[in-house]
Amino acid sequence: MASLTVRKLDEALKASLRLRAARAGRSVEDEVRMILREATEGPEAVSASPARNAIPQPHRSRAPEVKGLPRVTLIIGGGIAAYKALDLIRRLKERGIHVRCVMTRAAQQFVTPLTAGALADERCYTDLFDAQSEFDAGHIRLARDTDLIIVAPATADLMAKMAQGQADDLATAILLATNRPVLVAPAMNPLMWANPATKRNVAQLARDGVSFIGPNSGEMAEANEAGVGRMSEPTEIAIAAEAMLRPPHTGPLAGRRILITAGPTHEPIDPVRYIANRSSGKQGYAIAASAADAGADVTLISGPVDLDDPAGVRVIRVESARDMLAQVEAALPVDIAIFAAAVADWRVANAGEQKIKKTSSGMPPLQLVENPDILATISKRQQNRPQLVIGFAAETQNLIQNATSKLKRKGCDWIVANDVSPASGVMGGDRNTVHILTRGKAEAAVDVAVDSWPVMTKEEVADALIAKIAETMGQPTP
Ligand code: C5P
Repeated sequence: MASLTVRKLDEALKASLRLRAARAGRSVEDEVRMILREATEGPEAVSASPARNAIPQPHRSRAPEVKGLPRVTLIIGGGIAAYKALDLIRRLKERGIHVRCVMTRAAQQFVTPLTAGALADERCYTDLFDAQSEFDAGHIRLARDTDLIIVAPATADLMAKMAQGQADDLATAILLATNRPVLVAPAMNPLMWANPATKRNVAQLARDGVSFIGPNSGEMAEANEAGVGRMSEPTEIAIAAEAMLRPPHTGPLAGRRILITAGPTHEPIDPVRYIANRSSGKQGYAIAASAADAGADVTLISGPVDLDDPAGVRVIRVESARDMLAQVEAALPVDIAIFAAAVADWRVANAGEQKIKKTSSGMPPLQLVENPDILATISKRQQNRPQLVIGFAAETQNLIQNATSKLKRKGCDWIVANDVSPASGVMGGDRNTVHILTRGKAEAAVDVAVDSWPVMTKEEVADALIAKIAETMGQPTP
């Protein structure tokens, strides 16, 4: 019997087959089988057999009937990662989410609106001044008629426009006109991501309430380039979107605002060298994830770490202790503040503007000055002091004694004390043994209670800490 190879069909036929297959949620080969079966056995035989992994049929009326499904508007920006946005459509749909796509002009250089529209639940919108788009939905309706907006890939340019409030195309007009939560998945070259202008825009957007996922580190599309800048994987983005779509005000910390610091700080010596420490940020990130799961509104201010953003958490990335303090202060007021970051106590007073050169006169003297103590500064605030301030004490000896004096000296309410001596394997490891030191506000300097927990994973410590916080705080007053 003769064999048929789809690859050898002419291009126009292949394109229409691909479209048919995508609409039905089948591979092209399965679609061809279906067509042949229909031709030989009649349409009844075919309608009785459901498509494998079938995507629900697109609903193409003017006002799509979504029937209670959560709705996502996916704005696809113009980067090489745009191809991953097509997979994201499928990952969202398999979670029962209705997807509507919008593409920037630049995005259309990478993927076509036809493909995005075929995979999504309705046609893809592209043009602010297109009469058909305005008739179908209108940019204001596109901005509001959704439960969540995802920007993926978010290019440096698109984020700059968002931070500026520009609205010169459909995507940016929707982003400016929306009152819905926005999740941004950046994707760009590592140098663009590390550029101070991008950092400023990201910090501004985070302050404006935009949530971020990624970027991850890894290989770039450009040959021989690697670093932080890869868009998060579609499944990661879909999971984050699902968390953001969960009904608000559920969970024991619903309605509470929590601020968490995590990771090390980097204190510059010159533009290429810095002072750092071995903190991985894992414990702070686990606490942020657990707090978000408990329904809290979480802001995580993170030093440089190699960890992905926890789902549903607003992440602000900083380098130095002074940047961290500035972002902490900008995030106030909050109900609860947890300071898990390993902040450098000292910074170089005379950090070089240029790379310090080796000279025959030996090592240049580095003058150190003390960094601000973020925990103590926030604990001792007269205004906007969080109701519950928790510090960490990482010690290598006399753990409880040192942690007790830290609790009193810094003026916080609780201290999570842990042994970080090299033998403990805590620094960079996955497990932790902690002791929770607490004191009532009125008890000033005395009566510190110590609650010692068994060895647990950092996720278990985070869950137990969040449960203890929820129990202590009770229900928020409406
Ligand atoms: O003094 P020490 O660094 O051991 O204190 C640890 C606690 O203080 C942690 O909660 C840490 O996040 C916080 N800290 C801070 N700012 C500093 C130093 C420490 O917030 N400059």
